[in-house]
Amino acid sequence: MIEREQVSQERAVTPETTSQDQVQFENTLRPKTLEEYIGQAEIKQNLHITMQAAQKREEPLEHVLLHGPPGLGKTTLAHIIGRGMGAQVKVTSGPAIEKQGDLASILTNLKDGDLLFIDEIHRLRPVIEEVLYSAMEDFVIDIMLGKGPSARSVRLNLPRFTLIGATTKMSMLSSPLRDRFGNVYKFQFYEVSDIREIIVRSAQILECEIQEDAALLLAQCSRQTPRIANRLLKRARDFAEVHDHKAISLQLAQKSLDSLGVDALGLDSTDRDILKTMIEKFNGGPVGLNTISSALSEEQATIEDIYEPYLIQLGFIDRTPRGRIATDRAFQHLGFSIPSKPQHKLL
Ligand code: ADE
Repeated sequence: MIEREQVSQERAVTPETTSQDQVQFENTLRPKTLEEYIGQAEIKQNLHITMQAAQKREEPLEHVLLHGPPGLGKTTLAHIIGRGMGAQVKVTSGPAIEKQGDLASILTNLKDGDLLFIDEIHRLRPVIEEVLYSAMEDFVIDIMLGKGPSARSVRLNLPRFTLIGATTKMSMLSSPLRDRFGNVYKFQFYEVSDIREIIVRSAQILECEIQEDAALLLAQCSRQTPRIANRLLKRARDFAEVHDHKAISLQLAQKSLDSLGVDALGLDSTDRDILKTMIEKFNGGPVGLNTISSALSEEQATIEDIYEPYLIQLGFIDRTPRGRIATDRAFQHLGFSIPSKPQHKLL
């Protein structure tokens, strides 16, 4: 039940932020339709069917949950869904919704068919999550009017909206919330060939020439992540412009990567520091995330959410119940000799 006083004047979703977001979105390298979107074939296929079916039935799309590591295109896809459904997208995030009233205000300002995109939905407070349950399931919320003995509850009907939740941490979502999403899509790291295609497409939009081998090199160093691919492309373009090169050549791409400290697998100095700390200070582990975090003076959440997923994907870190372990591959990549394994006694 929401107390009326909690409905704050400052909304977590303001028309300004939404329109600014939309302008920014339109002006970036992000694809605007499913056809333009490269990679994540399975998600695209399923989404295409669900969207078509909803449109045929003239119903709003069932709620959508997008999960996976950062930079893989969750926000982009939310905007593509909005465009495809001819719907307005209101954007907010878990941490921006502080009070139940903030959410009530967002929900009551939606229109039929609108999409509400909540980024980092795992960071919603439990009391706020509870308001979402009835909103998602029955399109109603309960508001408390007044206080004390004269308080009474009023049920408000909401427009039939679609919630799109995005999270990098599926495990932090409560099961009642998870269960209320009809469409759940898991993002995978991209194939290098898809990343290469994204780089070529982005280079065209940026009107910068890039040679084929250079596009492949940047793709191989992009951590299988479009956001990083576009970042590396922009830095290589800077290099080309400053050195008066007409096109990004392989040599120029390599120089730009070297200056950024990005190695052949796309690891940067922080990735290498994480692995080196595990190897040099803790003999490769097992070591707790909090210990790694204090040894590096790097926030635990940054290591866990930004760096670790790709190191796990590469098979450089294993998560075990006793802590993180640097694998033989990590030792090899950093030029350490692989430690001999403890010999098990024969019975
Ligand atoms: N730019 C960023 N992500 C992209 C994707 N998945 N497809 C095409 N262009 C992109």
